[in-house]
Amino acid sequence: MTEARTTADGGMETSYGFHKVDEGQKQGMVNEVFHKVAKRYDIMNDVMSAGMHRVWKDAMISALNPRKDASYKTLDVAGGTGDIAFRIIEASNRLAHSTVLDINGSMLAVGEERAAKKKLSDNLTFVEANAEELPFEANSFDAYTVAFGIRNVPRIDVALSEAHRVLKRGGRLLVLEFSEVDMPLLDKVYDAWSFNAIPQFGKMITGDAEPYQYLVESIRKFPNQEDFAAMIRKAGFSRVTYTNYTGGIAALHSGWKL
Ligand SMILES: C[S@@+](CC[C@H](N)C(=O)[O-])C[C@H]1O[C@@H](n2cnc3c(N)ncnc32)[C@H](O)[C@@H]1O
Repeated sequence: MTEARTTADGGMETSYGFHKVDEGQKQGMVNEVFHKVAKRYDIMNDVMSAGMHRVWKDAMISALNPRKDASYKTLDVAGGTGDIAFRIIEASNRLAHSTVLDINGSMLAVGEERAAKKKLSDNLTFVEANAEELPFEANSFDAYTVAFGIRNVPRIDVALSEAHRVLKRGGRLLVLEFSEVDMPLLDKVYDAWSFNAIPQFGKMITGDAEPYQYLVESIRKFPNQEDFAAMIRKAGFSRVTYTNYTGGIAALHSGWKL
């Protein structure tokens, strides 16, 4: 489960990778990571996951099966450089609208540039805001997606209840996130890759291993499949299910606002 507990001075502690930090500190540290890596983020994603993030993201969009009409509105939270929103729009035959929300202006700037190159800007709105405090009215979106983003949010329970608030009745929540590997040999290979190769590649490509050390550690601190499903149910979602990808390296959680 997400580790958050009361500290002696009444604040809340949470995990920043393997370190305990005050809940208020985590967001600033996460923001620094993504400001540093924004320009190299897309290349690093391919390197870190050996291209697998594309397969998992495509699978997420197939599960969503976006409606092909102009009234279909989705919100992609922690949307970063736009990968999920671009796929949703393409899958809707360029009819849907997606709002890409991220707390980090550097990541959004890369996303806006990519959207313009792909000629998708008309279907997109970029919003700099916090997943814990969405600047939207209740019952606004048909779908809420978040890919590899929720583990970076200090108060995941708050983000999930915000997701529930902004979805329309009948709306769908989809969360793609790294999860717990459930295959005996794969977990050893994955550990070696994560703790040795990824920070080293990060250093080679971005000049700094630390942000990638954080990313690897944050993955291990995130709740496993069952615990995260329980958090989603607690936020008010119904029919909560999950699907493992690549032996649980990633998992897609789904819930409905009914
Ligand atoms: C690993 S990236 C994922 C980007 C994109 N969804 C993807 O799959 O490629 C994580 C993103 O979460 C964003 N993020 C972290 N904390 C956030 C928060 N509290 N609210 C919104 N976005 C946040 C970061 O700025 C970063 O862009």
